[in-house]
Amino acid sequence: MTNDKQSIKEKVSSVLHWYHQITMPDGSVTPGLNKSAATMAVYEKLGFPTDLRGKRVLDVGCADGYYSFICEQRGAEEVIAVDYRQPTASGFSVAASILESNVKHVVDNVYDISPEKYGKFDFIIFVGVLYHLRNPLFALDNLRKMAKPNATVLVESHIADDEIHETLRCEDLTEAQMNAINKISLWKFYYANTLNNDASNKWAPNFKALGEVCKEAQLEIVAQEKFGSRGAVLCKAISDNALEHSRKMDSATGLNVA
Ligand SMILES: C[S@@+](CC[C@H](N)C(=O)[O-])C[C@H]1O[C@@H](n2cnc3c(N)ncnc32)[C@H](O)[C@@H]1O
Repeated sequence: MTNDKQSIKEKVSSVLHWYHQITMPDGSVTPGLNKSAATMAVYEKLGFPTDLRGKRVLDVGCADGYYSFICEQRGAEEVIAVDYRQPTASGFSVAASILESNVKHVVDNVYDISPEKYGKFDFIIFVGVLYHLRNPLFALDNLRKMAKPNATVLVESHIADDEIHETLRCEDLTEAQMNAINKISLWKFYYANTLNNDASNKWAPNFKALGEVCKEAQLEIVAQEKFGSRGAVLCKAISDNALEHSRKMDSATGLNVA
């Protein structure tokens, strides 16, 4: 089947649930619920690389692959798109086929990816996944292992600032007290399906904590932006002996480290 307008339409409508709004070669856009272009505009402002020639890119929690395909279009030498769902369970397979993409999809979990399996990367995308995880810092530590020295790492998440404020407003706190609360790193835990009726939503940081958890994982903040109930941080992978020591202690691999 060729990629004429009709066949693109048929292939796109064969996917039950699109997440991303991906522009197809005929100018049509996949009917995802995520406002992909608007979110991408925020990432561009933060410094999402425009020229990826010669670079290896890792997109963890890729869903339909919007960001992976953009990186390929920006000249990346290799793009590996990871998701714990099969590519046929999302729109990834269909989008990749229509776009004639060479992005490599692998079914894996952020907790289990390793440089031994996939090598190290120049640019790592980890957006829209953190708040789905039961063990967010463990995931970021593992993600950090995938980074070449000074690699760029983009982390984005639902953030809990507004919900925390809403709750505290009931207690009649002053504006000054609210601002003081913004300066505390806080994480909100969502028991069962209490965030958006989705049981996969577990922990959301406030904006301050999002930056600090990145720093704890040896990801230095380059630029950050709060947009609505979301926060994005563009980071540089660094090495910090004290932070690495504490990570190793926690994973019980560093108990004999001085
Ligand atoms: C909300 S979507 C975000 C998609 C895309 N990254 C974005 O922000 O537009 C979350 C994606 O992460 C995947 N995911 C969630 N937990 C994961 C994990 N532990 N390992 C790998 N993928 C995961 C889900 O299957 C889903 O495709």
